[in-house]
Amino acid sequence: RTEARTEARNKLFLGSFVHSKALDELDYLHDAAVCVDKSGTIVAVERDCDEAKARETVLPRLGWDADDVEVVRAREGQFFFPGFIDTHLHASQYPNVGIFGKSTLLDWLNTYTFPLEASLSNPAKARQVYTRVVRKTLSHGTTCAAYYATIDVASTNLLADLCLAAGQRALVGRVCMDQLSPDYYRDASAAVAIADTRASIAHIRAADPSLSLVRPVITPRFAPACSVALMRQLGALAAEQPDLPIQTHISENKNEIALVKELFPPHTTGAADDSYAAVYDATGLLTERTILAHAVHLTDAEAALVAERKAKVSHCPCSNSAITSGAARVRRLLDRGIACGLGTDMSGGYSPSVLEAARHAVLVSRHVVLAPGGEERDKLSVEEVLYLATRGGAEVVGLEGTVGGFEVGMEWDAQLVGLGQIGEDGEVVVGEGRGGGEEEQGESGDVDVFGWESWPERVAKWVYNGDDRNTKRVWVKGRLVHQRKF
Ligand code: GUN
Ligand code: FE
Repeated sequence: RTEARTEARNKLFLGSFVHSKALDELDYLHDAAVCVDKSGTIVAVERDCDEAKARETVLPRLGWDADDVEVVRAREGQFFFPGFIDTHLHASQYPNVGIFGKSTLLDWLNTYTFPLEASLSNPAKARQVYTRVVRKTLSHGTTCAAYYATIDVASTNLLADLCLAAGQRALVGRVCMDQLSPDYYRDASAAVAIADTRASIAHIRAADPSLSLVRPVITPRFAPACSVALMRQLGALAAEQPDLPIQTHISENKNEIALVKELFPPHTTGAADDSYAAVYDATGLLTERTILAHAVHLTDAEAALVAERKAKVSHCPCSNSAITSGAARVRRLLDRGIACGLGTDMSGGYSPSVLEAARHAVLVSRHVVLAPGGEERDKLSVEEVLYLATRGGAEVVGLEGTVGGFEVGMEWDAQLVGLGQIGEDGEVVVGEGRGGGEEEQGESGDVDVFGWESWPERVAKWVYNGDDRNTKRVWVKGRLVHQRKF
């Protein structure tokens, strides 16, 4: 459950820490100490440092009052891992997870998605859905989420308020769509979409003036649902407010791509060619602050343009499989130097879990290998998908150097992971080993650890079989935002 805000104290985290060092390499710190100050910033990372040593050498160096430090100990076998970053999801679609039948993108939008999103203009319903989505994603270790809300300003703002209250880092976007959408769910004009977007930005700026936790994000739904005038005006708005990111969808589905070519011949935008990426580029939306979701079917020329503009990609493997969009070739994007993160894309994707997205990314990469033109090196490793879920995601949402790893100067967005350990008698042992803290007896998920596994093997078991039962506690900016009671 989500904790109420308490007075911030300096914190000393002790035990094992695992985080990404490079795309294909995890760093393991054992018997380590990490100090997090009252503002939530990591001020010390010490290897081979037990509590006594931390108290003797590290705390005095930091000038901390040793009597006023909150100590958090990972038990034997548990480890701290950076919080997950979900670079693409629709908070408004949460009630529809798992409900998509055999649909594909364009009929899925009309059948399932637009009616639900429209219904969230009901404030009570929006509060119910958004409260739950924030709680749910936090419980799965998502410390930062790039959310799409709906076209409704009041409930979009409510989502931002709920993220702030629960302590979840978030990008919150009021969705813009002024064409090719049903009458009951469409912006009346580009001017209305811009005015409403400005109103939502102003609300969020007022709610979190430093934008240190929650940020507004300029959100053209996707090209087919936006007029050229709207896209141009949103591009101009992004240029006017350079601290704001942009998020949209690109090249998810083949029928969608055909629709873009039909709707936006080059003369309508002044684009260099009739590609999807060129439409965004010509309207000022393809920037280094842009998060492009899916990018399944980008041509080589489009990938080159995306790389040149330094735009980012949110890989959404669960969604791409569920609504039969295709298998994105992530290696090709990474090889071009494009920053990539993972997105659950709820409810195109049916799971709120970034761990599940990581698992899907691994599996989809195998299908890429097996497909015509696939190569062995298209395969993604456990280490690589965990990088995408943390450091890669941080880069995608514009928080590189702030979150995604355990380094001095970064903020403490983290999860404590615990796997079930099998004891001598075959019983699952939880909450034993190094003591301290609250009791955490009881279920520990489906991950059985026998005790002889290496650390990389334990982490692999977590990726393939773990779930929210293994996410014991979650912090954002040093604040405890979720704790499992068992
Ligand atoms: N393209 C336009 N809108 C959406 C959406 O809500 N979800 C997904 N997956 N793709 C989209
Ligand atoms: Fe989406």
